[in-house]
Amino acid sequence: MNENRKQLIHLTVNGEVQSVAVESHWTLSRVLRNDCGHTGLKEACGEGACGACTVLIDGVAVPSCMVLAVEQEGKSIETVEGLSKNGVLHPIQEAWLEEYGAQCGFCSPGMIMSTKALLAKNPDPTEDEIKEALGGNICICNNYEHIINAVRSAAKKMREKA
Ligand code: FES
Ligand code: FES
Repeated sequence: MNENRKQLIHLTVNGEVQSVAVESHWTLSRVLRNDCGHTGLKEACGEGACGACTVLIDGVAVPSCMVLAVEQEGKSIETVEGLSKNGVLHPIQEAWLEEYGAQCGFCSPGMIMSTKALLAKNPDPTEDEIKEALGGNICICNNYEHIINAVRSAAKKMREKA
């Protein structure tokens, strides 16, 4: 690996500034997993079709396999690891557990991050709005009914806490 081809970028990942030397063609998913230690996000299709790699970039849910790390200089990134605080699960994670939102769990990190983005702008989404917001996230276990229930439950929990 030629270190001279790398460029130093600074990302705020889950509130912590990380400086990473990246090559220009490296995707954000690769850098988050390989260089930043955030392996919660999954990489499956690598072409924006499954949503397993979804993270929030400045609050917007994005498939991180589809963006270049070098273009994220100075951005704020949230991954699933940033949700729980001091060992206490985020209400979305609680809801996922209680409503059996995970079967194999492979889609869960991406689904949960898409849910976080949805509920930040729409605290009481309809079923259609949930389906639309999670439309880019594929569950190969076909666990959609439980996932939708988990989103509804998470929304209720978060409204009650607000
Ligand atoms: S791995 Fe990024 S969308 Fe499938
Ligand atoms: S729970 Fe297995 S892919 Fe969704």
